[in-house]
Amino acid sequence: MRFGLIGDIVGRPGRDMIKQILKDIKTKHKIDTIVANSENISNGFGATNKNINEMFNSGIDIFTGGNHSFDKKDDYKIVLQNKCVLRPANYPDEIDGRGVGIYDTHNKPFAVINLMGMFAMPVCDNPFRKALDIVDQLKKKDINTIIVDFHAETTSEKRVMMSLLKNKVSAIFGTHTHIGTDDLIVEDGTMYVTDVGLTGCRDNIIGMDSKTPIEKLLTGVGGHFKVQNNCKKIFQMVVVDINEQGIATTAKKFKIYDDNDIVITDFKAEI
Ligand SMILES: [Fe+2]
Ligand SMILES: [Fe+2]
Repeated sequence: MRFGLIGDIVGRPGRDMIKQILKDIKTKHKIDTIVANSENISNGFGATNKNINEMFNSGIDIFTGGNHSFDKKDDYKIVLQNKCVLRPANYPDEIDGRGVGIYDTHNKPFAVINLMGMFAMPVCDNPFRKALDIVDQLKKKDINTIIVDFHAETTSEKRVMMSLLKNKVSAIFGTHTHIGTDDLIVEDGTMYVTDVGLTGCRDNIIGMDSKTPIEKLLTGVGGHFKVQNNCKKIFQMVVVDINEQGIATTAKKFKIYDDNDIVITDFKAEI
């Protein structure tokens, strides 16, 4: 199976890039399933049901989430009822939604796990212990194709997750920092990237208008971050091939700019 993995889609500029580009790429590169992070799709904070459906109609099949999944107070309960919309699995059980999805839209079932880190995040269950437990349960059900979105702030947390899950899951893609990293690798059957990077505005501060973050850091005081609608945009996605046994074989990183520059980097499995 071929999966496309998209990081944080930030606001209208991010949604516009998805609407303009994704269906064509999905067809042209024969991608079976697209997984993307939803936590910033609506105005940069949370996800409305309307925007989730708009993105499903634009080629996304499964959404993960993060620390902003609950920001749209009126909509998140509806959004998280959808089996194809996840939130981090290490939130407590009494919180709405689910953190693991098992899907059987193709010949063999596959699973998507959404986890959130510990540094600068809400206090939740230990994501590393949770990851090992969930993977163990999935393996008992004979599910070997497993995709993990690890939504975390620090590179070290993400590398620890890679070391723990290497050879046990098919792919780990990092989200949350909004800045794409240059460390895509396929090792011991597992694809890993610290962060895919955002889809949305590329010429300001992590997809948000620069004015407020600068003010806040210069003075300690400032308002709510806003998504700027007039900006230079980028679309970022990792594409990974996973065989019948759940082993990742090759991966590519796509970076597509709204002014038509395209950068595709190929990676082959290290054996
Ligand atoms: Fe985010
Ligand atoms: Fe986040």
